[in-house]
Amino acid sequence: MNQKQDFIAVFDSGVGGISVLRHLVRRMPHERFLYYGDSANAPYGTKTVEQVQKLSFAVAEKLMAQGIKALVVACNTATAAAVELLREKYPDMIIVGIEPAVKLAADRFPKGTVGIMATPLTIDSERLHKLEDRWKEQCDIIELPAPGLVELVEAGKAVCEESEALLAPMLAPYAGKLDAVVLGCTHYPFAAPVIQKLLGESTTLLDGGEGTALQTQRRLAEKDLLSQGAGEIVIQSSAQDPKILHLCRKLLAAN
Ligand code: DGL
Repeated sequence: MNQKQDFIAVFDSGVGGISVLRHLVRRMPHERFLYYGDSANAPYGTKTVEQVQKLSFAVAEKLMAQGIKALVVACNTATAAAVELLREKYPDMIIVGIEPAVKLAADRFPKGTVGIMATPLTIDSERLHKLEDRWKEQCDIIELPAPGLVELVEAGKAVCEESEALLAPMLAPYAGKLDAVVLGCTHYPFAAPVIQKLLGESTTLLDGGEGTALQTQRRLAEKDLLSQGAGEIVIQSSAQDPKILHLCRKLLAAN
């Protein structure tokens, strides 16, 4: 097959990367997308760096075997743990990794107070610490780990009383006090209505989905690899559970 019509592969530990896929499809409707959610192994955010590296390589290899022209790591946790190693091992592949949108927040709210919600592995990562060091002169940064939220999103319970009860003790103390919150895990945009309700309308929620889509488009354009064909979206999951594929389709259709 013509390489231009090969898939753009998009991968996450589970259903969260669908929040990035939505931006990619909107921006590049003529592309063929191959989404892979590793829901059988989610969550990644509470695993060790070595475990996430191993899982990320296994998924990347499965995707590369299906004919792809780019790999989008639509998982902040896998990006923090493995994107540099993936680039080293596959120097000819376009590999784009999502990372918490701290730059976007610092640019939009100079001298502001910015919260970063992310998984424990991302919060502890050197990659995030470097990002924070780079922007900490420009804004106050508060880390807000949200353990348990990924599991609820995987169970289709992103917006419900249960997610509100989980998040209320973490977020209610910051209500009305933050200019922006960076959603540094691709599962979290699906819980945005609950996060917004707890923090109040004066807090702007930001995520890296659109920036990642833009970067992917740029990288493909540089290599003249953008397609003009009929778009397609294939969804695969490591979980042998039709409910997960149904959830992916539902999240993709929701706005
Ligand atoms: N969606 C992933 C992220 O962006 C990780 C969720 C998890 O498996 O812990 O970080």
